[in-house]
Amino acid sequence: MSTGGSQQFDLEGRVAVVTGGYGVLGGVIAAGLAEAGAHTVILGRDKERSERKATVIREESGGVRTLGLSADVTNEEQLRIACAATLDAFGRVDILVNAAGGNVASARSDDRPVFDVGFDAFDEVVRLNLHGTVYPTLVFGDAMAARNSGSIVNISSMAALLAISGVSGYSVAKGAIDNFTRWLSADVARRHGPEMRVNAIAPGFFVTQQNRDVLLNEDGTFTDRSRTILAQTPAGRFGRPEEVVGTAVWLCSDAASFVTGVVVPIDGGFSVWSGV
Ligand SMILES: NC(=O)c1ccc[n+]([C@@H]2O[C@H](COP(=O)([O-])OP(=O)(O)OC[C@H]3O[C@@H](n4cnc5c(N)ncnc54)[C@H](OP(=O)(O)O)[C@@H]3O)[C@@H](O)[C@H]2O)c1
Repeated sequence: MSTGGSQQFDLEGRVAVVTGGYGVLGGVIAAGLAEAGAHTVILGRDKERSERKATVIREESGGVRTLGLSADVTNEEQLRIACAATLDAFGRVDILVNAAGGNVASARSDDRPVFDVGFDAFDEVVRLNLHGTVYPTLVFGDAMAARNSGSIVNISSMAALLAISGVSGYSVAKGAIDNFTRWLSADVARRHGPEMRVNAIAPGFFVTQQNRDVLLNEDGTFTDRSRTILAQTPAGRFGRPEEVVGTAVWLCSDAASFVTGVVVPIDGGFSVWSGV
């Protein structure tokens, strides 16, 4: 009996939407899904950057169709317009990767008590990460539910599991994303069948746009925070963005057809190491 082997990872003909799709992690995931054969929609707040990224992916992936759209993931109206544009162009949505998110500087409490964080800053970081995951899921997930088929991948964080200094609101939001991932996975499988799946990836530490200032000094050397992180990471280095791609493609493909409700760490061992 043939198991299908690597064909199980084939995404040919599927339609993937990636929020934060010109960001560092969203960008490599979008490129990886396109390389696996998926027509790919890049969603970000800056239409020009979305379109540029969509063009690069189309040229490099050889044969898939792409589309660059602008939408703020916390804005329902803009998301509904983006979903309508996706359905107009491709007629369906098979994959949603919620990669928009990140820390908000004003919500951090590295050098002050958490009690000094303003409510507005707390709201902003929770809205970006939690609402910015739930809203696209409700809009694009509805289009998947109409066909009883689709794979949603959320982006969690080590901060969902472990207390990481300075990032209370971000941690609250990422913890809730894990909870939403589990809750929704059960709900959609029961209502829409086993071909609707919801999972998450929990990256360890990767140097990207939203955390560069915290991890690297101006001269490119590691900050004290970076050195602490690396000492706690058995692999002894930061992740390379392309190291999230295999897990994303797997979760979106038939190779994960019986996998739902899980949060997969990609962290060089950060989350299992006791430090002893
Ligand atoms: N890097 C890490 O070590 C790490 C670790 C754990 C989890 N993560 C998570 O991974 C995800 C991707 O982050 P990244 O590290 O790749 O950061 P990044 O390079 O800064 O990418 C974030 C992307 O999100 C977009 N974005 C921000 N606010 C948005 C909004 N309201 N609506 C639509 N798009 C928005 C940004 O574009 P615009 O600002 O132009 O809209 C950007 O393209 C985030 O959820 C982050 O929390 C990262």
